[in-house]
Amino acid sequence: MGKKQHNSDKLLQEELKKSGEIPDHIAIIMDGNGRWAKRRGLPRAAGHKRGVDTVRDIVEACAEIGVKYLTLYTFSTENWNRPKDEVSTLMRLLLSSLKARLSELDKNDIKLTSIGDLSSLPVEVQKQLRTDIEKTRNNKRMTLNLALSYSGRWELIKA
Ligand code: IPE
Ligand code: MG
Repeated sequence: MGKKQHNSDKLLQEELKKSGEIPDHIAIIMDGNGRWAKRRGLPRAAGHKRGVDTVRDIVEACAEIGVKYLTLYTFSTENWNRPKDEVSTLMRLLLSSLKARLSELDKNDIKLTSIGDLSSLPVEVQKQLRTDIEKTRNNKRMTLNLALSYSGRWELIKA
């Protein structure tokens, strides 16, 4: 992100904070990574990678303006039907992000939680997810909730 862009984001964040109209809960469905990459003549994986960076900015900004609860719809049950190598790229990215961002989440007082059919995820991902959740469980500023292997059906059953 360029410096100019960053400054105007900060101004906007300040304005939002002052307006007192910050929602407690924001939910985001992640989409468009592939199209982002295609427009630039890049492989889909490049779009997913960029998506991770965008998520980082979003998480930081939400915590900054006082959102209490951010749900990211990250990987749906339908996403399992994608080509095998795309699914493994996504799982590898998820694993590396969970590892790489743990200390940052913790430092920013963000608590990680997760919803979805977690048992269908690769074991290494499940393990890292548990590690991150355990390490951040007492954090108070914002809860970052990752929906993984989720579906409308899954949510209905849980409810
Ligand atoms: C979101 O981007 C990533 C996931 C759903 C895992 P997409 O991969 O759906 O990107 P588009 O929709 O093909 O552009
Ligand atoms: Mg899509």
